Amino acid sequence: MRSLLSLLLLATVAHSAILQPYSLTDDLIQLMSFREQPSNAAFTVCQDIQFQYCQAQFNQFFGMDDMVSWRNGSYIFQTVQNYLMMNVTELVKVCNQRTQFYQCLGASYYSCMNLYTLLNKPQPDFSDTFDYVRTFRGLEGMCVGGFSEVVAQWDCLGTFPTTNAYQNCINNFNQTVAANNFCPAVQQTGVCLNDAYNAACGGPAAGYFGCEMFRITFDNSCWGLRCMVDTY
Ligand SMILES: *[C@@H]1O[C@H](CO)[C@@H](O)[C@H](O)[C@H]1NC(C)=O
Ligand SMILES: *[C@@H]1O[C@H](CO)[C@@H](O)[C@H](O)[C@H]1NC(C)=O
Ligand SMILES: *[C@@H]1O[C@H](CO)[C@@H](O)[C@H](O)[C@H]1NC(C)=O
Repeated sequence: MRSLLSLLLLATVAHSAILQPYSLTDDLIQLMSFREQPSNAAFTVCQDIQFQYCQAQFNQFFGMDDMVSWRNGSYIFQTVQNYLMMNVTELVKVCNQRTQFYQCLGASYYSCMNLYTLLNKPQPDFSDTFDYVRTFRGLEGMCVGGFSEVVAQWDCLGTFPTTNAYQNCINNFNQTVAANNFCPAVQQTGVCLNDAYNAACGGPAAGYFGCEMFRITFDNSCWGLRCMVDTY
């Protein structure tokens, strides 16, 4: 009885999250990576030494070891998430760290934050690599376009991913996403999240935030998708 109860608890416990929690299979991560393959010959190369240096600077704020890298993406995702969920003051500091990291990488930022580039390095782990790029894409969505919204509604936006309404959108994504309808599934999930965040937190800005935090991870694999701001 007791173990059944704790099993049920385990199954329903979900944590507060500004960066949306979900996972993709290795097959889908690989598909995304091919879709992110840079086509431009002038694409800036991600320089290993600069990449490591900037990462180590970023890590210091979070108390992560200098050697922690994109290969530890799931650990970085969780560590950044924990800071975002402390309070708004810490969230603002994380955004400042993100700006410094972005400036540190300069012209190579987007080639370093690219699934195709990273997965072509020796022996990558797919979910670590995916968690790595979506951490920084999520921070971009939150700290650039979504900043005033997240500061105003930090509590509601952070708690929302613990609800069934959030989980329904994600489960639906999980069940529908496939190689032959990848971007339509992303688009549909963005709409689902838009409506769900709107209903829970109120105001068109919350819906846009929920949609955009999801969509931005797929910005390079699904060109041209947009989140709409509802007008009443
Ligand atoms: C989505 O489905 C995959 C298996 O297809 C599973 O490993 C993963 O945990 C699921 N993610 C969520 C958030 O349910
Ligand atoms: C980071 O990843 C490397 C390579 O997979 C591993 O050896 C190391 O233990 C990881 N560090 C942490 C803190 O998880
Ligand atoms: C925010 O959280 C940090 C870490 O828990 C704490 O040290 C700080 O006092 C908190 N700040 C505010 C304004 O609550």
